[in-house]
Amino acid sequence: MQKEFKRYTVTAALPYANGPVHLGHLAGVYVPADIYVRYLRLRNRDVIFVCGSDEHGVPITIKAKQEGVTPQDIVDKYHNIIKESFEKFGISFDVYSRTSAPIHYETASDFFKTLYEKGEFVEKESEQYFDEAANQFLADRYITGTCPRCGNEGAYGDQCEKCGSSLSPTELINPVSKLSGGKPVLRKTSHWYLPLDKHEQWLRQWILEEHKEWKTNVYGQCKSWLDSGLQPRAVSRDLDWGIPVPVDGAKGKVLYVWFDAPIGYISATRSIRPDWEKYWKDKDTRLIHFIGKDNIVFHCIVFPAMLKAHGDYVLPENVPANEFLNLESDKISTSRNWAVWLHEYLVDFPCKEDVLRYVLTANAPETKDNDFTWKDFQTRNNSELVGILGNFVNRAMVLTHKYYEGKLPQIGQLNDQEKEIIENIASIKSLIEENLEQFKFREALKEFMNLARIGNKYLADTEPWSLIKTNPEKVKDILNLSLQIAANIAILGEPFVPFTSLKLRNMLGIKKWSWDDAGKTDILPTGHQLNKPELLYAKIEDDVIEAQLKRLANIKAANAVATALVTPQKPNINYDSFSAMDIRTGVILEAEIVPKTKKLLKLTIDTGIDKRTVVSGIAEYYTPEQCIGQQVCILVNLEPRELKGITSNGMILMASDANGKLVFVSPTEKVKPGSEVK
Ligand code: 2FM
Ligand code: ZN
Repeated sequence: MQKEFKRYTVTAALPYANGPVHLGHLAGVYVPADIYVRYLRLRNRDVIFVCGSDEHGVPITIKAKQEGVTPQDIVDKYHNIIKESFEKFGISFDVYSRTSAPIHYETASDFFKTLYEKGEFVEKESEQYFDEAANQFLADRYITGTCPRCGNEGAYGDQCEKCGSSLSPTELINPVSKLSGGKPVLRKTSHWYLPLDKHEQWLRQWILEEHKEWKTNVYGQCKSWLDSGLQPRAVSRDLDWGIPVPVDGAKGKVLYVWFDAPIGYISATRSIRPDWEKYWKDKDTRLIHFIGKDNIVFHCIVFPAMLKAHGDYVLPENVPANEFLNLESDKISTSRNWAVWLHEYLVDFPCKEDVLRYVLTANAPETKDNDFTWKDFQTRNNSELVGILGNFVNRAMVLTHKYYEGKLPQIGQLNDQEKEIIENIASIKSLIEENLEQFKFREALKEFMNLARIGNKYLADTEPWSLIKTNPEKVKDILNLSLQIAANIAILGEPFVPFTSLKLRNMLGIKKWSWDDAGKTDILPTGHQLNKPELLYAKIEDDVIEAQLKRLANIKAANAVATALVTPQKPNINYDSFSAMDIRTGVILEAEIVPKTKKLLKLTIDTGIDKRTVVSGIAEYYTPEQCIGQQVCILVNLEPRELKGITSNGMILMASDANGKLVFVSPTEKVKPGSEVK
């Protein structure tokens, strides 16, 4: 039997305010959290939903340095962008706070002081990397190097993003300072540590024995951390951006971002509720953390250890962490701009917030990493939202207006098919509840869509538009029942597609309603006046999707160039090797596509020496017409090569532009063919 709780505290991971949020954030954390909270509210549970910006940490100071502004400027800018994106997507936080807020400083400092005074920390001196040129210790992401586990050359001092290993800076091979680019030296420094090793035993019992119901991915990660033995974790850093360590003699030291950030959940609650303590300290409170998989250790091990060490707080009942969402088969990456940014989506797809919420839930990375593709987005919109849900509701509304001036007709004798539909509606409601209680949002959404499918099939089977001529009495039953299904869709859909739900409720003229009304078929009384029908969803055309794919293709090309730009220099060659290459200027006289290829052009070039054929892979970038008359540089003494049955005599020189497009390397003035390039 599941314990009954009096109230719920639901938290969603505080996003770093060093960039906007993208659809991976929405899919992994905020949409599922919002669905859950909306559901609890509909069931009249006492729930508080808290979040805010995570405004400390090295990535923020690095970004500020790159942009030549202060860290405060960075967090102010992104806090507002992020907050607005969440609001527009209907993420219904009770509070969206920030960790630079004074109440957060006070809460986090008090928390630290309590643990300090209770002797819950260990103070230890250790050797850490220091940048002598910048006169600064190099915490976490200020240092990069080669990952000792997978060989990734861009691993950070705290984590390798390639293999996911959690690292300490001294483990990195060939460490380099991000500040000066130089090699750091080791220097002694002293910090406070949370001795996780001392907490290991109760954590093992609490997670591995008492929370076997946690998602397999979460439970598995915790088990592997616990099995490899917990180590003390430093909770302070030598930095000048963060909350100062509130004890004497701690000058220049701030709280580690992962110490203060989760306390942000508490300070956010405090900021809006004078009675905040009951949401955090009362044993009848169910604390749930929604996070992404990279945050599991902090929410399942470190934060609970902090809460336990403090002594007054409840521990999380569940931590439904999701896996990651990829974009068009590639890992979402802020630094590579490989993302769909929410503030941009809102501009490109006005009034389509629910479409994204729907697609991200239908395809949520609940048990494994998943892929978002624009094609799937289009199909789900056009076939499911427009073709099934929207189509069903629209038909029922339009026909009722047409035959009964928008007044709900009376329901009479029901046949077996209709009785079965009524039973199905009740069971769908229970299945949605069961799935939501277990954080199975995809399944819950599937059940919700089954309602629309049932309605759509019912209309398709019974064809009231034909039946009206032969059996008008039956049409009354059909439309009454259809509109009751639509009312169920409006209520049960609120957690998933809140904007649609509101629109539909307005169309149906439902003023007062609650979750308990759903599952039934007497939501709308006979004679009830409906409002004017409006389309709930619109088709998304191919060109809209192609524009998004093009945008991504451009980003990919630009990244390829950026990577190419930083490709290390090749080993030196001597002058003889260079002068052995005979590069001349030339002019393209003729150009044609090589048959059965997309990329190759057959060029006839006047090299000054002769007129020769060169096959070049530039057809993606230039049409034959654009090539004719073009001045080029050509390596004329390259050994001839056979390409698609054509002998290519030489190679023209091309360079990549910022979008990865190949462009001609050509003299800036007109020169005569055959002139030597040296
Ligand atoms: O991974 C992140 O984006 C962190 N900023 C999450 C923090 S969650 C909480 F602890 F505040
Ligand atoms: Zn690695």
